[in-house]
Amino acid sequence: MNNKTIWITGASSGIGKSLALKFAQEGWKVAISARRENLLNEISKSNENIIAFPLDVTDNEKCKSIFSQVKEKLGEVDISVFCTGIHDPKSEKTLNLEKVRKIMEVNFFGTVNSINAVYEYYKNKKSGQISIVSSVAGYRGLPAAGAYCASKSALSSFAESLYFDLKRSNVRVSLVSPGFIKTPMTDQNDFPMPMIKSPQFAAEQMFKGLTKSKGFEIHFPKSFTTIMKVLKVLPNGLYFKILEKGMKRIKD
Ligand SMILES: NC(=O)c1ccc[n+]([C@@H]2O[C@H](COP(=O)([O-])OP(=O)(O)OC[C@H]3O[C@@H](n4cnc5c(N)ncnc54)[C@H](OP(=O)(O)O)[C@@H]3O)[C@@H](O)[C@H]2O)c1
Repeated sequence: MNNKTIWITGASSGIGKSLALKFAQEGWKVAISARRENLLNEISKSNENIIAFPLDVTDNEKCKSIFSQVKEKLGEVDISVFCTGIHDPKSEKTLNLEKVRKIMEVNFFGTVNSINAVYEYYKNKKSGQISIVSSVAGYRGLPAAGAYCASKSALSSFAESLYFDLKRSNVRVSLVSPGFIKTPMTDQNDFPMPMIKSPQFAAEQMFKGLTKSKGFEIHFPKSFTTIMKVLKVLPNGLYFKILEKGMKRIKD
């Protein structure tokens, strides 16, 4: 047991849950949030270092009051990791305004609500870290994922901007860009997902990136994210050609 503490949102399943378990195993006190209270309680019961704080991140005021409760219970909070996210691959096959708004509301504004809840705390504390879970899907527009890509691209830009702001107060801002990880979110996908990894792999990579490095971006698996980084800097014409060819191969 060390006396370090972390708050993780989106921790009822997938990457956030594995990350909570990893930090708890390493002796950290872990506050976990998401909407499904029953799942949070099960996780909390499985490890005495984990405490559940149910939260819907689309409720700005609730984000603030839950963070106050987390501080009350845990004292100082060294790291806050915002890992909530939704993806609706079926709705992305066509333009659905309502779904686009919903995805932006949770992925972008939900995360900004969470950042808003901790912003002054870290600014005054002049130490600690805010980590934002985005995606390599934020690098460029991908086929049939417009709303998801836009939400993640917005988050990545927001995180870059926040980096400059909080650096002046000695607060680290980090951005997490995973490739494909097997979770309930990706279980909805009906296409091959190259180099997909387990949530435990994601948690190991994130634990290392959050606690042992000082860089801005934590991305994994490197074999996949390197390809995505090359695609990111290609001229538009070449990028569209490569993706169209890849999609044709998947359909054939
Ligand atoms: N899996 C991948 O391949 C992959 C790749 C790149 C990035 N990511 C990102 O990684 C993060 C975690 O995704 P995952 O793959 O682990 O999917 P997941 O298992 O579906 O986890 C999503 C988490 O977000 C929570 N959540 C959703 N809406 C919420 C809301 N309004 N308020 C509070 N919590 C909410 C969910 O809990 P409740 O439903 O209980 O609220 C759940 O804990 C997401 O931001 C995702 O975009 C995933």
